[in-house]
Amino acid sequence: MMTCNQTWPEPIVRVQALAESGLSSIPSSYIKPCSQRPTQTTFTPQNDHYDHINIPVIDLEHLSSGDQVLRENVLKQVSEACREWGFFQVVNHGIDHELMKSAKEVWREFFDLPLEMKEELANSPSTYEGYGSRLGVKKGAILDWSDYFFLHYMPPSLRNQAKWPALPSSLRKVIAEYGEEVVKLGGRMLELMSINLGLKEDYLMNSFGGENELGACLRVNFYPKCPQPDLTLGLSPHSDPGGMTILLPDDFVSGLQVRKGNDWITVRPVPNAFIINIGDQIQVLSNAIYKSIEHRVIVNPIKDRVSLAMFYNPKSDLLIQPAKELVTKERPAMYPPMTYDEYRLFIRMKGPCGKAQVESLANKCD
Ligand code: OGA
Ligand code: NI
Repeated sequence: MMTCNQTWPEPIVRVQALAESGLSSIPSSYIKPCSQRPTQTTFTPQNDHYDHINIPVIDLEHLSSGDQVLRENVLKQVSEACREWGFFQVVNHGIDHELMKSAKEVWREFFDLPLEMKEELANSPSTYEGYGSRLGVKKGAILDWSDYFFLHYMPPSLRNQAKWPALPSSLRKVIAEYGEEVVKLGGRMLELMSINLGLKEDYLMNSFGGENELGACLRVNFYPKCPQPDLTLGLSPHSDPGGMTILLPDDFVSGLQVRKGNDWITVRPVPNAFIINIGDQIQVLSNAIYKSIEHRVIVNPIKDRVSLAMFYNPKSDLLIQPAKELVTKERPAMYPPMTYDEYRLFIRMKGPCGKAQVESLANKCD
């Protein structure tokens, strides 16, 4: 059994403090090799061909209406988005817009606190809970231009509000409420995906361990403004290792880019929408009918950006494997069974590394 280091390999530098020191060029530890820099690969909005492209935006309003035709239409849109993009935005999702706004505000206030106060909640690579500035423990790795706060929301046995920031004083209450709503939305999405895959509607929820045992963690990303945004990334290319991610992006600053073939599409957030994406565990459960899509974050010189990523995951000690119903002679099981505990150790040690991990598992099934 692999284990994770207890400490970081190098002294931790807070990117926000670095950015606020007013430097005009970034330290070499953040400079990506030429081939990974955003300018080499991004299509800018000036490029006509890509100007109109965005990930699908789906209105969930008619899901709960009694009208079967309207409901089927929503299901179909979700199905296509899961198959073709692995990424989509949802509006009329039922979560109060004021709550969404408060959730973003309390985290902005947290990141605005003096450094010493945030340092009291500094995290370690054994659980990642708390205030952090790097993913992975590889010494000498090129780092991303971001800080974050990571906390457990589900299962209740892992939820420990004492590890959440005490300031601003409303944070714990707002985030408890926000977590509850977002986790409920996640449950509804699992149901839609199960139906769309031709499985029983509670198939995916049961595979995740059920409502009381599934995992949900929040990572709040803070991307400080950057004097040389062309040389670095806020978050390197990765697919999310868990089940599904429900992201609340910044209202005013874009930055998330989604891979489409060889291109990177900049997501234009719709007001009050959530961005939902498939993670590696649903790729495995669906036997790759749904794919977890690579994404990354670019930074900019003028504004910092905050995003709230809720990772919705299987109970960590359950075996995750392709649904029997989706395994046929023509389409054999593409992945061996593995628990999420085992799976995420890789990313926790190596940091973001595109889709290398889920691909390395493909076809190792005998
Ligand atoms: C993540 C992520 C995107 C963003 O936290 O895994 O991909 O826009 N975040 O911050
Ligand atoms: Ni991600």
